[in-house]
Amino acid sequence: MSTVKLDHSLMQELDLLKQEGRAKPPERIIDHYIPPKEEYGPRYTLVGNDHEFIRLNSNSYLSLSHHPELMAAADKATHEFGVGPGAVRFIDGTFTYHAGLERRVAAFVGKPSAKIFNSAYTANCGLALSLSHKKTHWIGDQLNHNSIIRAMRISNIPRANKGIFKHNDMTDLKRCLEEVRPDMERVIVIFDGIFSMRGDYAPIDKINALCQDYDSKFKDGVITVVDDSHGIGAYGDTGRGTSDFCGASPDIIIGTFGKAFGVNGGFIAGSPTLIESVRQTADTYIYTNPLSVADCAAAIKAIDICDSDTGLSLLKNLKERTLQFRQGLERLGKESIPGPHPVVPVLVRDTQKTHELVAYLFDQGILVVGLTFPVVPRGDETIRCQINACHTAADIAYVIDCLNNFE
Ligand SMILES: Cc1ncc(COP(=O)(O)O)c(C=O)c1O
Repeated sequence: MSTVKLDHSLMQELDLLKQEGRAKPPERIIDHYIPPKEEYGPRYTLVGNDHEFIRLNSNSYLSLSHHPELMAAADKATHEFGVGPGAVRFIDGTFTYHAGLERRVAAFVGKPSAKIFNSAYTANCGLALSLSHKKTHWIGDQLNHNSIIRAMRISNIPRANKGIFKHNDMTDLKRCLEEVRPDMERVIVIFDGIFSMRGDYAPIDKINALCQDYDSKFKDGVITVVDDSHGIGAYGDTGRGTSDFCGASPDIIIGTFGKAFGVNGGFIAGSPTLIESVRQTADTYIYTNPLSVADCAAAIKAIDICDSDTGLSLLKNLKERTLQFRQGLERLGKESIPGPHPVVPVLVRDTQKTHELVAYLFDQGILVVGLTFPVVPRGDETIRCQINACHTAADIAYVIDCLNNFE
């Protein structure tokens, strides 16, 4: 037996991806973290390159990954319980840190209960597995993250039990709600809180109000679910995310510990009965080892910090630097999508120029992501910049200066 024939076919499939422009570039490898010095924030070096880079492509909005209290908490938990759980949750793989993180994150997002997952991706898939039966109808925003799209696919419901509404369009959401067959029992409306390629947000207050109008038509009602992976910790007056910003909470909140909180892992928060149902029926929770206690301890500490004066001052710096960057772009006449979120797209609207700009910024020591077709529609080619709390006024001024010098 050998994989020669299989490798041949796979090679052809990979070539096709390249031809279609869908292949990912080789992964760069970071080999050093250089702590902030003088008026500059942290820098990174890459294998095979002498430059020191600013990361303008990190989801670590509050820059907590290197926070000494998070690292000390992870160390302490590791020395108490070791580096791995040894089994899945229901076979004695549950430690005090898992239960503690569930209580902590539920309290932070204002829900009575939560379950933690290895990632927000597996949380979305788990929720779909738990909530779906023959009489479940799913409705989602057209720009939802891949994990939600995949979750809706693996829920095994027929095509007819799904609706997609135009991005943030309440009239189209109403159309989707109208189209739900009357024999359906449960309607789930699911959407990103912050849309990660654009930095704009779902109007949760409006979505809740519209869904409420249809709630009584279905046995289990119309349930609203936000995946606020890019919002929680980074958005709203107190960093509680898109709900905080909109002044309205959906029925179920999904989030990640791997972005603003700077760690790893995901969660679902909602009613105690929902969470017990997830525990009993979500395969992506049941049949896989949980996060390490180190991850859990670091995530608890990250939430504690986010919930403190230190967190508020990190959020303040994040907002100030985001504003500085957005105002800089405006001065240069660069097109963006307005809003206060630290995901700041720079619309280039040309594939070749997008690649050139990404390469130019790389040469200047700045890491950004270029988004071209088919990731974004033709004509919407963009570079996505992400501001983090560790960026300084000097860092942002440098990036704006570089953008100004690009021809
Ligand atoms: C909306 C949304 N959900 C889920 C994820 C995945 O998060 P995680 O890395 O925790 O799986 C992302 C991140 O890319 C995201 O933007």
